[in-house]
Amino acid sequence: MAELKNDRFLRALLRQPVDTTPIWVMRQAGRYLPEYRATREKAGSFMDLCRNAELACEVTLQPIDRFGLDAAILFSDILTIPDAMGLGLYFTEGEGPRFERPVRSEADIRALPVPDPEQELRYVMEAVRTIRGALNGRVPLIGFSGSPWTLATYMVEGGSTKVFANTKALMFDRPELMHALLDKLAQSVTSYLNAQIAAGAQAVMIFDTWGGMLTSRDYRTFSLEYMRRIVAGLTRENDGRRVPVTLFTKGGAQWLEDIAASGCDAVGLDWTIDIGEARRRVGDRVALQGNMDPCVLYASPDRIRQEVATILEDFGAGNGHVFNLGHGIHPNIDPEHMAALVDAVHSLSLPYHR
Ligand code: CP3
Repeated sequence: MAELKNDRFLRALLRQPVDTTPIWVMRQAGRYLPEYRATREKAGSFMDLCRNAELACEVTLQPIDRFGLDAAILFSDILTIPDAMGLGLYFTEGEGPRFERPVRSEADIRALPVPDPEQELRYVMEAVRTIRGALNGRVPLIGFSGSPWTLATYMVEGGSTKVFANTKALMFDRPELMHALLDKLAQSVTSYLNAQIAAGAQAVMIFDTWGGMLTSRDYRTFSLEYMRRIVAGLTRENDGRRVPVTLFTKGGAQWLEDIAASGCDAVGLDWTIDIGEARRRVGDRVALQGNMDPCVLYASPDRIRQEVATILEDFGAGNGHVFNLGHGIHPNIDPEHMAALVDAVHSLSLPYHR
């Protein structure tokens, strides 16, 4: 494999010194880029794009080529696992993801298979291998998965939800059954991420988009515990380098200390907490990733620069910061504003690393 030319992202995740603060952005390959829309058109549908290693590679590299970001993230989706379990994933315009066969009964849960990542999910591993080849050591490649709790919400609801009625009813009425589902998902996520690492992913991230919808007690029992088990089961070294693990719970700021104690290397932050406070609470244990409000990108490049300066100052001098948004970039952001963000992070952070 080609020598890694820009490793500041991996170094920051391990709290090692860097020349400038690294940045990548959640959903960096996506609809706000005209070149993404063109490739997606060519592919047909979003899932066809995910299943075509050449085209998935093409869209993964688009934001790297355009903005000079410090990490690439595999182009795929968190819902590939439930799809591989046989739920039949599809996307409808404006409604987001849907499943043809949601998980509704005890029998449904007991019958769910743990997918073999080199069989049903082989297309994801092909994409990882293709992207690593095309990157040729320019920047590291991030692999990812959803958290068991977040995947369970989509599987039980049959798609996106605001209330989580079915998922929470199952959790409150039949906790042992919810645990059986989460246990199966944790096994699936562990082998899926390990396969991504074996295929070439140099860091991995777990997206717990809906952990923040739980009470503190339920968060620990139904979400964090399963992420902890996954972290404990991951390959942490590959090709002679540590493979850092990042956990991101949206709405998880109140549980920072518990997340930092899970065994992960880094914690992703949404925008609701000041990163300086987060650093004081856990910065001697883990690196921090985040956390600009994605809506700042609707403001002018000058205002974006100001906000970047505030976050960098709040984090302060020293190691262990990966700049990111607090959640995914919105589909109607002007790409010029993204360029202003990347430039601001790279130039304004220099004094903090002298
Ligand atoms: O960050 C990246 O650039 C890598 C690719 C990535 C996608 N989805 C591509 C995608 C990643 C890391 C995800 C994760 C994901 N998918 C999450 C967790 C992160 C988060 O945002 O909280 C969730 C909850 C999903 C499920 C999902 N997939 C949703 C809710 C949607 C949006 C539906 C819509 O129409 O807005 C998707 C589709 C999706 N995943 C798109 C992209 C680029 C848009 C599909 C398109 O091209 O139309």
